Amino acid sequence: MRKKWVIGNWKMNAHSDFVAEWAEQVAKQQAVDVAMAVCPPFPYIATLKQKLTNTNIQLGAQNVAATDEGAYTGEVAATMLADLEVSLALVGHSERRTLFGETNEDVAEKCQRLAENGILPIVCVGETHAEREQGVTENVVAEQLAPIVELIKTGLRPVIAYEPVWAIGTGLTATPEQAQAVHTFIRQELTKVSAEVAESTSILYGGSVNRDNAAALFSQADIDGGLIGGASLDAEHFFTICQAFNSH
Ligand code: PGA
Repeated sequence: MRKKWVIGNWKMNAHSDFVAEWAEQVAKQQAVDVAMAVCPPFPYIATLKQKLTNTNIQLGAQNVAATDEGAYTGEVAATMLADLEVSLALVGHSERRTLFGETNEDVAEKCQRLAENGILPIVCVGETHAEREQGVTENVVAEQLAPIVELIKTGLRPVIAYEPVWAIGTGLTATPEQAQAVHTFIRQELTKVSAEVAESTSILYGGSVNRDNAAALFSQADIDGGLIGGASLDAEHFFTICQAFNSH
């Protein structure tokens, strides 16, 4: 049975009061049967971790440097995330790829730094609207996955998140069938490593997941959870999305 995940990505949203309120809301929620994590902006990781001590919500980062510690102004090294006991980190989010020019090779480097420090990489892949229209979704996803597949061959075990760029923050969600089709393709790509790896790798869907559409998406055979942006800013919504797993 593959591990099921719901991971919140706050992006560049938060302030101290928000963090305190979010944690307070969490305390009122019912337990859920899914692995949960939240990725706040770097400055709030330590505070949020402290506030979530008595919960089973893990802490994640939204990014990491591709290099080890050193003269890289503004970067945050994997060793520092490990020092804060961060469990996982997003890599290759489409906003990083598009707005900050991250390449597939950068993403692979980042994965390596994380793995060396015992942090689980959540590797994001996905096509733009134009690429979907051109019918090249699978080519794009395969290209993004290629260096990761090589790392998996060396023993790295990431989680993959399929996030169609056109569905991120737009309110447009891939239909469960559209998402399932790409998840099946990703799993098939992973068979290049081994059938066991393909079968055991968690593949999450992200892109305008909310409490209304989560259950239908999570009911698909190859969708092992979600990466939640906007809806994760509301702790109650986040938990309702987590509970979507209980409904099937
Ligand atoms: P969204 O973001 O849920 O706001 O679409 C998802 C993501 O970017 O991870």
